[in-house]
Order: sequence, then C-alpha cells, then structure tokens
Amino acid sequence: MNTPVLAVRGLRTSFRTRAGELVALEDVSFTVGERETVALVGESGCGKSMTALSVMRLVPQPGRVAAGEVLLDGVDLLGLPEPAMQRIRGDRISMIFQEPMTSLNPVMTIGDQVAESLLLHRDMPRPAARRRAIDLLDLVRIADPHRRVDDYPHRLSGGMRQRVMIAMALALEPRVLIADEPTTALDVTIQAQILELLRSMQRALGMGLLLITHDLGVVAQLADRVLVMYAGRVVEQASVAALFDRPTHPYTRGLFGATPARGHARGRLREIPGMVPSLSARSAGCGFAARCPLVESGCVKTAPPLLTQGGHGVACQVVARQRDGVPA
Ligand SMILES: Nc1ncnc2c1ncn2[C@@H]1O[C@H](COP(=O)(O)OP(=O)(O)OP(=O)(O)O)[C@@H](O)[C@H]1O
Ligand code: SF4
Ligand SMILES: [Mg+2]
Repeated sequence: MNTPVLAVRGLRTSFRTRAGELVALEDVSFTVGERETVALVGESGCGKSMTALSVMRLVPQPGRVAAGEVLLDGVDLLGLPEPAMQRIRGDRISMIFQEPMTSLNPVMTIGDQVAESLLLHRDMPRPAARRRAIDLLDLVRIADPHRRVDDYPHRLSGGMRQRVMIAMALALEPRVLIADEPTTALDVTIQAQILELLRSMQRALGMGLLLITHDLGVVAQLADRVLVMYAGRVVEQASVAALFDRPTHPYTRGLFGATPARGHARGRLREIPGMVPSLSARSAGCGFAARCPLVESGCVKTAPPLLTQGGHGVACQVVARQRDGVPA
C-alpha cells in the first residue's frame, strides 16, 4: 500500500453529560493512502459522522476527542493549537457534508463562497480569486460558470449546490477529502454524476478520500478499502474485493448478506433485526452482542480487538478463534 496521508490511531471521542461520560468512538484506527478511497459504512448511529468530525476537530460541545492521534502527513492534528488547525482545515484536509443547503451561506454568492478560502488561506487578490472560482465552477461542471458565479445558492438545484460544495472543498487542493454521504440527498442520476466527479477530482489531485456511504454499489464502484463501523468501533476492515468475497464479522454478514455478489452490489445496506445501542446503553463487551446470531457468554465481558490476518481485520472473538489471528 502507498504512504498513508491520513493515519488515525486509537481515537476515542466522548460527550460529558450529567449522567457521566458517554463514549461515541472507542479505539478507532485506520489509514487513508494517497489516491486511495476508503469507504466508511455502518448503520445510522454507528459513529461515521463522529469519526469525520473528530478527524476535522469539529466535534460539537460537550463532545471532545479524549484520546488518540490523527496524523496528517505525519503531523498530529489533535496536538495543534486551534489557529493552526484552522489553517489546515479546508486547506490540507476538507470535508463535504450531506446537506449542501445547510453548509452554504444563503446570503453570499456561490462565487464569493468558493473564493473565500483562496482569499483567506492563499492571500490571493480578489480578481484572481474570482477567476479561480470561475475555473473551479467549470471544473465541477457547472454550466455557464461566468454567469453562475454571481448566483445565490437558492437559485441552484440540489445537485448544483453539491457541486459548489465540492468546488469549495477542493479549492485549495487538499491532501485528504472527507465526504459524508455526499449524494444521499440527490436523485440517482445526479448521484452518479457527483460520484464520478469526485472520482475524477481525486485522480487529478491525488487526494486520499474517506467516503461515508450507505450504498454498497458506491462502495463496490469507488472504494479501494472498506471500514465497517458498529457502536463506535471499527469491527471489520479489508480491501473491497476481500470484503465482498468474504464478509466475516457477523455484523458485516448481516449488512451485506452472507454471500453478496460484488458485481451486483446494489442499493443500501440490508436491514438486520434490532437497533444500534444508544451511547448510554453501551457496555463493556462486544457492542453487537445483543443482535449477534453467534453470541456466546464471553462476548459480553470485553470488547474484542480488531485482529488482522492478510490485511483483513475483524473484531470478533468467535472469528478470532476460528482463524487463530494475530493482533494488528
Ligand atoms: N451532539 C451529540 N451529542 C450526543 N450524542 C451525539 C451527538 N451527535 C451524535 N451523537 C451520538 O453519537 C453516535 C454516533 O453518531 P453519528 O452521527 O456519528 O452516526 P452516523 O454513523 O453518522 O449515523 P448516520 O448514518 O445516521 O449519519 C449516535 O449514537 C448519536 O446519537
Ligand atoms: S464477539 Fe461475540 S457478539 Fe461480538 S460479533 Fe463476535 S460472536 Fe458476535
Ligand atoms: Mg452521519
């Protein structure tokens, strides 16, 4: 594998409440390489967005990243003072959110919004930033960018707004882009166009892409590797081929179906009985125990670590016994 641009190690994110500390993420570790697309999948509430926000240091109060490292080209972002982090955010690492309307400023033209980071981070003179904004709108395939640059967000369709978000996120050519369900709010044809756009921009810039998605078709098409999250932990991680050929964690098998055909992967993750436990309902053992068809008495005592064999990591004590794995 190529050099990781992003290496996350032992991430723990929690919320301080009157009822005590509620843990949203526990021991989350993964890497994203240059030009690599890593998909992050799992049911609603598993901690996908929280992982993205933790990496960006944007966890809402009273939440905080309590432990771990987020290395961007070897520099731990968690150790930086906030002003230094502000210089990096949107510049070396950027994020696209699910709902473009809430992320765009309704009273600023899209041109000014795309140009803002160029003015702020690159100290570019205004006319040059405007020209660059037009180029970027063109790059994300907004038709007639010279005219569109002066439009306000409400004049654009959902798909166009998402293109503007992509132009903003990529204006400074980041090393890593985090896209949190970037197409969920869009119709299928537009989804495909936006994903293709992300893919081509990634290739052009050589970025690492962390792609949060519910869609197995998207995973199969775009991702090199997959991380499966459950109840705030990574429970399985593997190359796309290995994960589709041999989904191994009982949770992944539930979501993917026992033998998914990679070429025919389609639609959203399968529904499995039960629900993701809320933060206050999480216990010391395996988070999946209450829903797991293979559960045994030892499962509720301690959370199984992610054990890796041949690049395929699984956090399950039954699987570990079956494969006699070695710790990652
Ligand atoms: N501000 C907050 N305060 C307390 N708990 C929160 C907060 N935001 C999220 N959580 C909890 O953290 C857990 C992880 O949430 P997260 O938003 O990361 O889920 P997700 O995997 O992105 O789900 P979805 O697919 O619905 O976007 C959930 O149990 C959620 O209720
Ligand atoms: S550790 Fe136990 S409960 Fe958890 S996934 Fe494995 S078998 Fe199921
Ligand atoms: Mg989310």
